[in-house]
Amino acid sequence: MTLISNFDVQALAFAGVVGKPNLPIASESPADFWARERLLDEAFGAARSGKTAERLREGRLPARGLALAARDAGKLIGTLRMWHVLAGEVPALLLGPLAVAKAHRSRGLGRRLIAEALVRAASAGHKAVLLVGDAAYYEPFGFSRRYTLKLSLPGPVIEARFLGLELEGSALKSAKGLVTPAGARALPAQRGARELRLAA
Ligand SMILES: CC(C)(COP(=O)(O)OP(=O)(O)OC[C@H]1O[C@@H](n2cnc3c(N)ncnc32)[C@H](O)[C@@H]1OP(=O)(O)O)[C@@H](O)C(=O)NCCC(=O)NCCS
Repeated sequence: MTLISNFDVQALAFAGVVGKPNLPIASESPADFWARERLLDEAFGAARSGKTAERLREGRLPARGLALAARDAGKLIGTLRMWHVLAGEVPALLLGPLAVAKAHRSRGLGRRLIAEALVRAASAGHKAVLLVGDAAYYEPFGFSRRYTLKLSLPGPVIEARFLGLELEGSALKSAKGLVTPAGARALPAQRGARELRLAA
């Protein structure tokens, strides 16, 4: 598979999203809350709250305009959210979690969600994106381990799965040190189900 060194429209073409049928992707709404929780439970299981990436998301709001929902006949079938973080001292976004309902997989929806999120992020002036995920899936968008070599996460992670993408120039060149959360804090009513359950 072709490796693209940076993000551009060509990257989306190589990633196989250009030319796919138009799938219904929009900004998520507060009404998606429980459907999203169910979708994430189905995709990742109960252990999802223990993931290291969750340490960067818990108690925070996703980045404005970068929480996406895919729906089929009004039912949530795909979710992708991005979060403000600091990569050392460099502002960046954390991509994830990404999940597509089992019955709707392998139709290009996951890649469409990523493409939509990256286009929105670049348009909004964001310069870099980090994630923890399988390189084989994300490399066609330009994500690479080489952008995260000097960075660490607040917990254990398989290093090969810690990837970065520069949306602009050499945005991650000086990024070194710990990745920390930087998003706006969520009100109790906006927090994740796990926190709601713990609080109950
Ligand atoms: C990963 C996921 C979002 C992909 O959604 P999708 O809508 O099926 O994705 P697409 O249709 O764009 O791509 C499907 C292709 O990617 C491949 N793929 C899926 N997950 C992959 C992975 N982790 N690594 C490499 N390839 C993967 C599929 O085998 C499929 O290949 P094909 O096109 O040759 O059949 C979905 O499988 C899912 O929700 N999985 C559980 C949660 C998860 O693992 N999220 C990602 C965390 S990094």
